[in-house]
Amino acid sequence: MLEDPAPPCAEMLADAARQGSHIVLTGGSTPKRAYEEAARLEQDWSRATLWWSDERCVPPDDELSNYGLVRESLLDRLPDEGSPQVYRMPAERGPHVGADDYERDMRAAFGEQIPRLDFLLLGLGPDGHVASLYPGQETLDVSDRAAVGVEEAGWKPYVPRVSLTMAVLNAARRVVFLIAGEDKAEAVERCFAPDVEPSHEAPGSLVRPAEGDLILLLDEAAASRLPARA
Ligand code: 6PG
Repeated sequence: MLEDPAPPCAEMLADAARQGSHIVLTGGSTPKRAYEEAARLEQDWSRATLWWSDERCVPPDDELSNYGLVRESLLDRLPDEGSPQVYRMPAERGPHVGADDYERDMRAAFGEQIPRLDFLLLGLGPDGHVASLYPGQETLDVSDRAAVGVEEAGWKPYVPRVSLTMAVLNAARRVVFLIAGEDKAEAVERCFAPDVEPSHEAPGSLVRPAEGDLILLLDEAAASRLPARA
């Protein structure tokens, strides 16, 4: 549990950038400060490659765009020569075309169906969703694709999405959750309490990297329903 989980998250992102990692960034409101701080800590991201966990089906300059969030809070704050390679999800083409195109990008970059990404950042929804994989949806079970189209978002904003699959999340070398706020406390308990059973009703409980690290960066409010020292 941390007073403010954004600075350690920023440090981890900056380290991953220095190492020339394949880094997956996420959307939502929580990571903005971590992205800003990561850009301040490290101006040379030229060896890194950026991917996204999920994207809303809007144009990249729309205020809802997860790419737009990263552009404003991180990419636009780097000098040209420090820019990483960027693979944004082309979700404005629609959920299924966007997912197919992203799948092709990943296959071309990694040469395998389910790539092994170095550093994958995720948030957690109050309903336990991760990326755009929502409780009870069939997309949770897709294991033979890297990206899926999500026709109905289970949480606001209610626009269709493109999302990485659980198979990709669980193949990563390191998965870091950045979670803050009282409204996340119950979901944190349902997904990460020590005795939790994996459940489709709490997608975060299904994120357990097979051969990678799982790191939770939680503020006090988000951690308030976990047993002490969990
Ligand atoms: C999205 C996300 C989503 C997000 C969580 C947490 O596009 O909505 O990628 O999975 O990470 O909903 O979002 P907040 O940080 O806004 O609570």
